[in-house]
Amino acid sequence: MTHQVRAVVARGKGAPVSLETIIVPDPGPGEALVKIEACGVCHTDLHYREGGINDDFPFLLGHEAAGVVESVGEGVTDVAPGDFVILNWRAVCGQCRACQRGRPWYCFSTHNAKQKMTLLDGTELAPALGIGAFAEKTLVAAGQCTKVDRAASAAAAGLLGCGVMAGIGAAINTGNVGRGDSVAVIGCGGVGAAAITGASLAGAAKVIAVDIDDRKLDNARKLGATHTVNSKEADAVEAIRELTGGHGADVVIEAVGRPETYKQAFYARDLAGTVVLVGVPTPEMKLELPLLDVFGRGGALKSSWYGDCLPSRDFPMLIDLYLQGRLDLDAFVTETIALDEVEKAFERMHHGDVLRSVVVL
Ligand code: APR
Ligand code: ZN
Ligand code: ZN
Repeated sequence: MTHQVRAVVARGKGAPVSLETIIVPDPGPGEALVKIEACGVCHTDLHYREGGINDDFPFLLGHEAAGVVESVGEGVTDVAPGDFVILNWRAVCGQCRACQRGRPWYCFSTHNAKQKMTLLDGTELAPALGIGAFAEKTLVAAGQCTKVDRAASAAAAGLLGCGVMAGIGAAINTGNVGRGDSVAVIGCGGVGAAAITGASLAGAAKVIAVDIDDRKLDNARKLGATHTVNSKEADAVEAIRELTGGHGADVVIEAVGRPETYKQAFYARDLAGTVVLVGVPTPEMKLELPLLDVFGRGGALKSSWYGDCLPSRDFPMLIDLYLQGRLDLDAFVTETIALDEVEKAFERMHHGDVLRSVVVL
């Protein structure tokens, strides 16, 4: 059997997305069909539309989602029809080098559904990050579904599927922020704001938010920043050092993805401190640093893939904290929109007006 559902498709480079009817197959072995309830609009979706990821048009956009499992294919035991799940784009394989070494959050061989979703004329769709959730239903690998408490709102829960998890994870997993640490976060959009929340959740004593947009800094304060720096008006490195007794922060999280902000992060950290790069650079970007400074300042320079999260470990835990009132996921939902408003949401994202627009179905 197949299902015909409405979905947001990007047909060509730079062209506005369109709402189309697509065909979704019933789940095969190891797959799950998920009825989507909410899906956040992420930069990566826009990136796909602009041809910045690859040229495999048409794309089925959307990858930051929560919904209910409608049916599962042969051999699926981890999730069952009726389960409320958050979708993840790194379904761990259990067999690759990273998994074998007991570090599944780095899995080098994550997987997606094998069967293809198509347009009505049979053209195969490429789902964004192997998900494609700006759709009434989508087909994923069962390992991409993580069951969480149904009491959570779908709009808030879905955000853990990408940007918010990347930010929180950059702080708690990659940065290993601990009680009493000083943390600076450069770039306070959806990802950076989540890093601030994560640092605060982990017990950081000082959380310094840096951005060039005062709206983002106001918001950062609400999410747990103890200090803010507008780096258009002040030198970010100087300001962070001043706020940390002249030394720099224990952990600096770069959530912009640019060489100049990475350099700020590099020099704004204390000796033997940690830099976490969670912002995603573009292919032409280059970084130049005196090698002596890399040596002399010591510590760790790390990248954070998807917040180095392990969905099965982190999603249910963070949803529990949300339901206990200890993690304000609702604060990241700037607006909820309909499926046909994704293009408008891209516009607002481009202007920096939102942390997240979330499509609610
Ligand atoms: N210095 C400080 N902040 C900056 C600078 C700069 N030079 N340039 C931009 N910013 C701020 C913006 O004002 C904005 O608040 O960085 C923030 C970026 O936020 P968003 O555009 O909302 O992006 P977000 O979803 O948070 O993602 C940030 O992480 O996952 C990656 O691909 C994503 O590279 C992107 C980054
Ligand atoms: Zn994303
Ligand atoms: Zn693996």
